[in-house]
Amino acid sequence: MLWYRFFGLTLILHTVKYILTNEQEMVDFAKTIAECLVLGDVVFLQGDLGVGKTTIVRGILQYFGHKGAVKSPTYTLVEPYQLNGKDIYHFDLYRLGDPEELEYMGGRDYFNNHSICLLEWAEKADGYLPIPTIKLIISYHPRGREVWVKEKASIFRLISYKSNTYQIYLKNT
Ligand SMILES: Nc1ncnc2c1ncn2[C@@H]1O[C@H](COP(=O)(O)OP(=O)(O)O)[C@@H](O)[C@H]1O
Ligand SMILES: [Mg+2]
Repeated sequence: MLWYRFFGLTLILHTVKYILTNEQEMVDFAKTIAECLVLGDVVFLQGDLGVGKTTIVRGILQYFGHKGAVKSPTYTLVEPYQLNGKDIYHFDLYRLGDPEELEYMGGRDYFNNHSICLLEWAEKADGYLPIPTIKLIISYHPRGREVWVKEKASIFRLISYKSNTYQIYLKNT
């Protein structure tokens, strides 16, 4: 946990690492993340191809009530979901040629206080997206996958919540 002091305000920037050893653990972990999400959140999922970004999106969507598979919107760039009255958008910007393409597809319309946006390959639209409230940085690990969770300095919501659940994952590190 890092503490910052700006203009008399103390902000906490939370960064925590988890090791998830198989796909099911990854999905369960994603559900614990989803429990903490609120409308207006923007989640970046960062990591190489095949590292598990879509797996985490699947867990989050399942938490909100989605049944079945999750197709990667590789060509359409975004897949909209309406789950129990919540608008959730899953982006996969891997094939985004130019960040300006986002403007043509009305990219900015997706980001508002009534939706939750989950983005794979946000780095392809650098400078054209809002600052994420949560960033999950995923990489390969000898025992599965390593996930760093970073929260926007001002929210301090995710990790402080359910510390017991997180202890389970921390035990593995
Ligand atoms: N924690 C994990 N440990 C081992 N394998 C995992 C883990 N999480 C996901 N996988 C596997 O990684 C593969 C790629 O996942 P996917 O979510 O499609 O990656 P991405 O969207 O990053 O390209 C899947 O076969 C999935 O079962
Ligand atoms: Mg994917």
